[in-house]
Order: sequence, then structure tokens, then C-alpha cells
Amino acid sequence: MTVKTLHLTDSARDIERAAKIIKKGGLVAFPTETVYGLGGSATDSASAGKIYSAKGRPSDNPLIIHVTKPSDAEKYAYTTPLYYRIAEAFCPGPITMILKKKDVVPYEVTGGLDTVAVRIPSHPVARAFIEACGVAIAAPSANLSGSPSPTCPEDVAADMDGRIDAIIYGGRCDIGVESTIIKLDGDKAVILRPGAVTEEMLGGLLSVSRDETLLKKPSADLRPIAPGMKYRHYAPKAPLYLLKGPHADVAAYMKARLEEDPMTGIICTESDREEISGKNVAYLPDDPQGQARELFNLLRGFDKKDAPRVYSVIPSRVGLGLAVYNRLIKAAGYNIIRVGITIPVIGLTGQSGAGKSTASKILQSLGAFVCDCDEIYHGLLYKDSPLTLRLAALFPEAYSDGTIDRRILSGIVFSDKEKLAALNGATHGAVLDRVREMIKEAEAGGARFAAVDAPQLFESGYDSECTAVIGICAPLDKRLARLVSRDGGDTERIRARLENQHNEDFFRVYCDEVIDNTGDPSGMTEKLRMITDRYTK
Ligand code: TXA
Ligand code: MG
Repeated sequence: MTVKTLHLTDSARDIERAAKIIKKGGLVAFPTETVYGLGGSATDSASAGKIYSAKGRPSDNPLIIHVTKPSDAEKYAYTTPLYYRIAEAFCPGPITMILKKKDVVPYEVTGGLDTVAVRIPSHPVARAFIEACGVAIAAPSANLSGSPSPTCPEDVAADMDGRIDAIIYGGRCDIGVESTIIKLDGDKAVILRPGAVTEEMLGGLLSVSRDETLLKKPSADLRPIAPGMKYRHYAPKAPLYLLKGPHADVAAYMKARLEEDPMTGIICTESDREEISGKNVAYLPDDPQGQARELFNLLRGFDKKDAPRVYSVIPSRVGLGLAVYNRLIKAAGYNIIRVGITIPVIGLTGQSGAGKSTASKILQSLGAFVCDCDEIYHGLLYKDSPLTLRLAALFPEAYSDGTIDRRILSGIVFSDKEKLAALNGATHGAVLDRVREMIKEAEAGGARFAAVDAPQLFESGYDSECTAVIGICAPLDKRLARLVSRDGGDTERIRARLENQHNEDFFRVYCDEVIDNTGDPSGMTEKLRMITDRYTK
């Protein structure tokens, strides 16, 4: 059945019109700060049915209900003190919480579940619209099922004209990726879908973990908690491949594909602008906010321009980057192509004092060519080297006689996140370029596989170039004892540093393999042998 879709403005009068449509059981697409939503009454099972059929969405995939104040959720769900604590910190805003549902919410809205997803958007048009409706609005993203979420009204119209009653035109969405979804569990939360309220932000308030499928491919054994996260999603029509490898090799690979076919779709970085250009070349902004804002728009662009296939760089996974990476890897159906370095590369990371250097020595004895990132970093800081001068410009206090005093530098960045980010921005690129050169040389010299020992593997984004990542963990007291006996120094200061680092859950979710170091070297050797056999054969 086709309907005539009204294109409404965001004026008060048009918002009243839109509310009338909802009250009569119709569907209206509306802007939010994340993406456009496709709204219907949250208490009407017939409206929910219409939403599923307009989107072509499987009806086991539940909808999010939208209200304007935290206490409005009381009508629809059983709230908890933690719900209010999180709402106070982040609502209205891009976060959705899963709560136990009340009877007024029909099972058609929740895909048959006893829980319901509640969100309080901050977009003024969304808020005015929900208020005018006088009822919670059930709304998935306003795209056809499987395609990228719409971040502007034109994209909604392209998918939904003729299928829904109206679209409220409210300009482009600020954030560009869907809300963070969390499931509350006692005083903890699990992230089911990453978004603009990041894990780091939530971590300041409560203990958070992640659904394992945020980064790993779901399978029969590994099912995402949010039913919607199991589908291939956000995808352009053309097959999308993510390219893993040294940046220079990724760029060369892209150029070669463009020479073969100038219609090839490319997602490269801003820094490639001078080198890579073409009809279907898109540039991903450098900052995660910009990346999130552009991603879906850019993926939809390839459909409009009929790209036969699309190749993309892999963005960093830290902060909002995790949401960008999560959408991109799903859009790619987990297809990753390795370029440049072809020998397997094992990433080695973990907590300080957990036994990473022991693991690194064992890997070497098992035949790995080992790059130690700390050592490479020191090696790059010789008198007035390019890196020394870069750091001198950023941190003049730490520079004297042509060298950088690393103690002063640690003191400066220890409690200042911005300065730490500046330091990492300058050092990670330099260290990793050297790592890539060394591995290429080792490969040419016949090395069978490489291992990269990097305490900041994930922060630097190098994990995306590894065949597999091993995390070494040990209990806090063991690590503390080891560091105190090895380096000496103030126990409380070392404890504070360790408590600041990632906890074990982080490594369990991010790493392909985790080794709990019990202090038995032969056990560790056996485990490493098994793991390297698995990934390097
Ligand atoms: O930013 C957003 O959240 C946007 C705007 C419109 O608010 N909405 C959105 O909705 O992204 P949708 O339907 O595209 O994605 C909803 C996700 C799906 O993955 C679904 O499985 C999950 O939320 N979900 C909804 N209710 C759930 C529940 N009770 N338990 C677990 N997951 C749930
Ligand atoms: Mg969606």
C-alpha cells in the first residue's frame, strides 16, 4: 500500500499536524540529535506493526520508546535508582536504557521481550513533537532495514516516501550515529551498542562492561544482547572491505584499485586528500566526532553514485571512535583485507607488571621477530631528533640540552588528559611508522611472524593491524608487588597508577586471547605456543 507522505516543517503548526497523525495511529519521521526516527504511538500495537512493515524490519527486533523527562518513563517501565542516576548525568541526550516493561507497552513494540528501551532525546524538535503527541513515541531509525540510518530528511524521504504518513524536516543530525544502548544490571551496566555517551563517560559513574559482539562477529555461540545488533546493518549496496595494514600500503592499495576502476568507492583519511582523489573518494574527518557525523552520509553517497565496491581505512576505536568502528565493521560484514605486511603480526599488551616482557621473551624464543614499542620510543628520542623537537615544541618545560626529560614529561601528562592526548598524538605515529618499517625488513629477511609489544596498543589504533592481540593480566596485588620489587619507588603512587589503567574486563573484551599470569613461566610458554600456532600457521 502506498500513502502520500507529507513533508512538514519544524514549525509549531506542523508539529501539531504531526501529533494528530500519531494520535490517529499513523507514522511520522522526525529529527533527533543522533539520527532520524520513525515514530508511532508506543502504546499502540497496530502502529508498531506499521513501523515494522514500513521499514521491512524483522518483528523480533524491538523499538526504542522516546519520552521527554526521566520521570515520564514511570508510565511505561519499572525504573531503578541507577536509571535516575544515569539520566541525571546524561539525559536528555544520546543514551538508551533497557528496563523491565509495564503492561501498557505492547509486546509488538518490544519484539516479544519483557524489557523496553527508553530514550530521552535532546533535539528540540523531537521534544516538541513527543510533548504534542502526549504519549511515548516508539521509533527505530527511519531507514529501510539494513541500510545506513538517515542523518538528514532527504535520506528519510529516499527510503520512506510512499511508506509513511509524514516527515518533519529538521536539518542534519548533530551526532550522526545512534544512541548508546545500555542494559542495567544491579549497580552495573552493559553496553549493547556504543554511541556518543562513551564507555569512558559512563565509567566515571558506574561499573560498565561491553557486550562481546561490539567488536567480534556474532555467531551461534556469540549472540548480541540487543536483537538488532545481529543483523548486517548500515551497509551500502556495494560490498565494503576494511583495509588493515601500514597506512602507506593501504593508500597504495586504494590507488591501485582506483586505477583499475575509477568508480571504486574509497573511504580514506583527510591526510590522504592530496594523494588520493576520484569520483567516489570520500574523506573521513580526523576526529571521531566528525567521523560519526559523516559516516552514514558517506556510506549512502556510494549508493547514489553506484560504486561497484568500497574500500575503507579502519578508524581508531577509542572514545566515540568505538561507535564509528562498530558501525563500519558491521557495514563491512566483518570483511577485512590485509595489505602491506603479510606475515602474521601478534599484538602483545596488558597491564603494567602483569608479565608482558616475559611473554615477549617467550614469543621471541618461539620464533617471533619482536618490536618493543617502549624501546623504539626511547630510541627515537636521541639528541634533537625529529621526535625530540616535536615534543620540545609541545612541552618546552621538559626539554633541555637537546633532550627530553621523561620524568618531567610523565609529571606533566599524568593528570592532564589533554596533554596526554597531545603526547600520544605525537609519539604513536612515529613509533608505529618505525614498527612497520622494522616488520617489513624482518619479513624481507625471512621472519615467519612478528610480535609487537605495546602497552598502548589499543590507544594507538595499532590493534587494527594485528592478526591477533594477546592481553596479559594478573591481579592488582601481584602486579604491585612485582613493580615495587623491580623499580622501587613510592608504593602508593604506583598503586594509583595501576588503578588508573584498564581493568581485566577491558582486555577480555578487546583482546583475542587473554593470559592470566599465575607466575609459572612454563605454563605461559605452553599457552603462548598454542596461541601462536593458532594464528601463525
Ligand atoms: O539514536 C537512536 O537510538 C535512534 C533514534 C531514532 O532514537 N533509534 C534507533 O533505533 O537507533 P533502532 O530501532 O534503529 O535500534 C534500536 C536497537 C536495536 O538494536 C534493538 O535490538 C535494540 O535497540 N533494543 C530495543 N529494545 C531492546 C530491548 N528491550 N532489549 C535489548 N535491545 C533492545
Ligand atoms: Mg536502526
